Amino acid sequence: MMTEFKKIANIGGGVIGSSFSLIFARGGLDVVNISRNQDGVKRTQDKINGMLKQLIENKVINEEDKEKILSHISYSTDLEEGLKDIDYAQENWPEIMEKKHEIVELFEKYAPDNAVLASSTSGLLVSDIAKNAKHPERIIGVHPYNPPHIIPLIEIVKGEKTSEDLAEKVKKFFEDLGKIPVILNKEVPGYIANRLQAAVFRETIDLVVNGVASIEDVDKALTFGPGIRWGIMGSGLNFELASDKGLEGMIDVIGKSMLTWLDDMATWTEFPEGTSKLYDGIDEAIKNRPKEIGNDRESLNEYRTKMLIDILKLHKLI
Ligand SMILES: NC(=O)c1ccc[n+]([C@@H]2O[C@H](COP(=O)([O-])OP(=O)(O)OC[C@H]3O[C@@H](n4cnc5c(N)ncnc54)[C@H](O)[C@@H]3O)[C@@H](O)[C@H]2O)c1
Repeated sequence: MMTEFKKIANIGGGVIGSSFSLIFARGGLDVVNISRNQDGVKRTQDKINGMLKQLIENKVINEEDKEKILSHISYSTDLEEGLKDIDYAQENWPEIMEKKHEIVELFEKYAPDNAVLASSTSGLLVSDIAKNAKHPERIIGVHPYNPPHIIPLIEIVKGEKTSEDLAEKVKKFFEDLGKIPVILNKEVPGYIANRLQAAVFRETIDLVVNGVASIEDVDKALTFGPGIRWGIMGSGLNFELASDKGLEGMIDVIGKSMLTWLDDMATWTEFPEGTSKLYDGIDEAIKNRPKEIGNDRESLNEYRTKMLIDILKLHKLI
């Protein structure tokens, strides 16, 4: 792959770190995974092998591809050694500000001066993460969606001091790796996708807690209504198709009515009482599903991965 980031380090090999390795290695880039100890290395290897097995079972890759991917992945328990000649590091340490500050400090100590540090942070402000950095211009948020080796979205977030140029380079880098990156013009907590998800989830909770419907039915309404369209295009394009006069026409026609719904909808910022209704309801919802579409956490996970891959095959994105 022609890119200016050729040697990659993945710092931390949990859920996200392991998955990121596959993105880089599938793109033909050498990636070193840096864990704290040999146990961490073993856990990362097991996760990567599990993901590769899933990709083979779903006919995304074959055995030969697997060997090629594995040949690009190496492991280290030594940050100094692992970071010494890299161009780009993706940090996947836990979502705790002190840990992010610690990794920034270690990165600046060991990585070359021109290397980039990308954080997988789910919503911490990059400006805060880079607060003590000597070179905040080369620190950037690169937020994947779980599981990153399957879901195309990458949100690129600049801190106050991140260079503009870097955001564009990182965008091109991920486009070349087959992902769909978007750059935020402005840093906000939760970025784009998690804010959208949180807005729908707040209303989900509210509908259940207020007794409008069970979580099973709210989930059905989402999955087989707007959700199935959202897997194809977002609210903007969907509403463009909602009226002969496009998005503007749709706001003219339904806008007034929508305002009365919004007026009645949840705006809370503390979880309300009664969320136990959701927990009981979700157990019931899982039990009611036929086995072939997942009726326990493990089979649900498998089913979701298979469906994600099938949908992405239709999008020609996997
Ligand atoms: N899980 C998700 O759905 C998701 C999605 C997008 C982004 N993220 C972000 O990715 C980052 C990693 O999340 P994750 O879900 O992979 O977490 P995780 O707990 O699965 O992995 C964290 C890894 O960091 C390792 N680690 C290395 N050095 C450490 C240290 N000094 N202290 C503690 N742990 C250390 C841990 O051993 C572990 O392997 C977080 O910033 C998270 O917000 C997570």
